[in-house]
Amino acid sequence: MEIHRVSHYYDVEHALRLNDLKQSLYDDGKILMDKVLVTLHGDEHRQRRSVESQLFRRNFFRVYENDVFPELLNETLDQFLTAQSLDLKELGYRIMVHLSLSFAGIDRIEGTVEEADAQHRLLIQLGQAATIGQFKGDREPIYQEIRDAITEFRERFFLPSRARRLELIDQHRNGTLSDEALPRDILTILLMHDTELTMPDELMVREVAFYYLAASHTSVHTLVHATHELLTWCQQRDIAPTEIVAAPHQLQRFVLESMRLHPSSPEAWRRAEAEVTLSDGKVVPAGDKVVIDLQTANRDVSVFGDDAAAFNPHRAIEGRVSPAGMSFGGGMHVCLGMNLVAGTVLRHTEEAQPDNHQFGTITLIIKELIERGMRANPDQPPEKIAASERDVWAAYPVLF
Ligand code: HEM
Repeated sequence: MEIHRVSHYYDVEHALRLNDLKQSLYDDGKILMDKVLVTLHGDEHRQRRSVESQLFRRNFFRVYENDVFPELLNETLDQFLTAQSLDLKELGYRIMVHLSLSFAGIDRIEGTVEEADAQHRLLIQLGQAATIGQFKGDREPIYQEIRDAITEFRERFFLPSRARRLELIDQHRNGTLSDEALPRDILTILLMHDTELTMPDELMVREVAFYYLAASHTSVHTLVHATHELLTWCQQRDIAPTEIVAAPHQLQRFVLESMRLHPSSPEAWRRAEAEVTLSDGKVVPAGDKVVIDLQTANRDVSVFGDDAAAFNPHRAIEGRVSPAGMSFGGGMHVCLGMNLVAGTVLRHTEEAQPDNHQFGTITLIIKELIERGMRANPDQPPEKIAASERDVWAAYPVLF
């Protein structure tokens, strides 16, 4: 079995659209990832995705950004923004645990710090299923921890959240509850389409847990990188960050440019189900693996210019290239949460429509934190994870 690497921008775009390349990044994490959306293929994937995408119908984003999100953010900040000196990564997890569970369809029951701690711990334990493929040591204790975490997640959080939703769906079917009063989350959508999806119970638990993972780690990674880029840019030019965040369209450009430079999933992995030809003419026989390098593609100088590796939120990009590059993937598995987290992603030449523009959660969180006085902590420089080849912050001390 040979491994083929694809890293030029347009080759990556093309490879992600090849239907005979099947997801393989999570092959060792089947314990959680088996048959969840991102590992499905072909008709099964199409059917589940078309059901789950229905969550974004009607005015989902407008209601989310105007009503749902501000309340969730305020709740978290009231509870956890309690000291002057904090680690932004930790605060980011507090925020994203709350936002991601709400989107997945898991309720807070007690609303206590202990409960939020348990949800954060479960996120870390469950998340090991997505990265275990890269782990070289004895995997059995990790598999056991993931198994226990799935059981705890199911019993403590999934079952009560499902019971509440089943009651509301019943009321909706009886005509006593309006469309607007139904929760807007993945679990509700899955339960409403239960007959058509025929998902076993244990798969529904894992699907909801997968959404929780997919939304959290990626967003925290992005929040910390984008904040760092913003603070550094402002410091180098002697601009107050409050000036940038006062114009959220501008701040959104900063966030998208940071997403391009620091994709939270640097690679997509696929296996050829049948022989395929890559866009450079290379033939990949069935069974071979293809590593699609999103991070390198995002720094392709032929697309982003000679300064492709530098942070420049005012960059002009020709053609139909997203300012976030390939960070949200492409083709059949293109990120379903993209507009939620990044907002309306305009190409360089497109004009924003003021009445119908979303900024995305990362822009809105950074805006709120800067407006509440967040700045870098001059006595404690931020640190990256030294042992990791990846571009990941270990801690990001800030002051309020
Ligand atoms: C900055 C944040 C995020 C980044 C960079 C990101 C990136 C990605 C990428 C690269 C993929 C494709 C993986 C592949 O092709 O193998 C993906 C898929 C996915 N993402 Fe995201 N994601 C982010 C946030 C979110 C959020 C907030 C949600 C949910 C609300 C989400 C839900 C999903 C789902 C469900 C899929 C699978 C789609 C499918 O297989 O059809 N993501 N994401």
